[in-house]
Amino acid sequence: MTQRIALVTGGIGGLGTAICRALTDAGHRVIATDLPAAPERVAAFSDATGGAVRFEPADVSDQAQCADLIARVQAAEGAIDILVNNAGITRDATLRKMDLAQWNAVLQVNLTSAFQLCHHAIDGMIQRGHGRIVNISSVSGQTGNFGQANYAAAKAGLHGLTMSLAREVAAKGITVNSVSPGYVRTPMTAAMPAHVLEKTQAAVPVGRLGEPSDIARAVAFFCEDAAGYITGANLPVNGGLFMGF
Ligand SMILES: NC(=O)c1ccc[n+]([C@@H]2O[C@H](COP(=O)([O-])OP(=O)(O)OC[C@H]3O[C@@H](n4cnc5c(N)ncnc54)[C@H](O)[C@@H]3O)[C@@H](O)[C@H]2O)c1
Repeated sequence: MTQRIALVTGGIGGLGTAICRALTDAGHRVIATDLPAAPERVAAFSDATGGAVRFEPADVSDQAQCADLIARVQAAEGAIDILVNNAGITRDATLRKMDLAQWNAVLQVNLTSAFQLCHHAIDGMIQRGHGRIVNISSVSGQTGNFGQANYAAAKAGLHGLTMSLAREVAAKGITVNSVSPGYVRTPMTAAMPAHVLEKTQAAVPVGRLGEPSDIARAVAFFCEDAAGYITGANLPVNGGLFMGF
């Protein structure tokens, strides 16, 4: 097995931590990037990932920081083989009440950052003739969601980015895929009102919320060297909450 260099955005969050751990367990050298965090949060992340993952802070909503992040990681580790665009935020409101700042913030973190990081990392992957990009979308990007016009638009946009880039780099040994989680037990869903979460869980055919490891397993699968024939695909990991072609 070849050890690959992996960069995971939103890397110290709920799903990010599990993704970092899964990629580490698969034998890769993993770098987590996230907003600057309190030392206790970084220490908890380090404990959860066995001290094997380097934390490289950056705000991926900032264009210059995206370029600088990729340059810093490449200078320290070599070209990035695996890029997981996982950073995400919500700024929920019905469209009537949503202001442009809420719209822009979500588009910037959840969609534009993925474009920026792919843009800066792709040349290194092309030079090495190998790459794995995984974009973390959402069931909301497939179905839409009440109060989430911004979030659903960004997550649906990730599918367009995924499929277009997949076509552009398929002949270069690079795959681009997305994973669409349903509702997973993380700080993001902990912020949802309890009665909404209960109602959501009741609608999941598998009968439970997802665990971060459920999502991480799917990401690690796309990142395998042997997964080179799967590109432009979206893998829903939602307990059957939404099924469709
Ligand atoms: N938890 C779920 O149920 C669920 C469902 C579908 C999709 N998702 C998606 O999965 C991804 C991870 O979500 P999570 O549940 O782990 O949430 P989380 O809040 O635990 O993690 C998100 C991480 O992104 C980071 N982040 C936010 N803005 C950033 C920025 N500007 N620069 C760098 N990092 C930034 C946060 O600091 C946080 O650590 C998100 O893209 C989310 O939309 C989550």
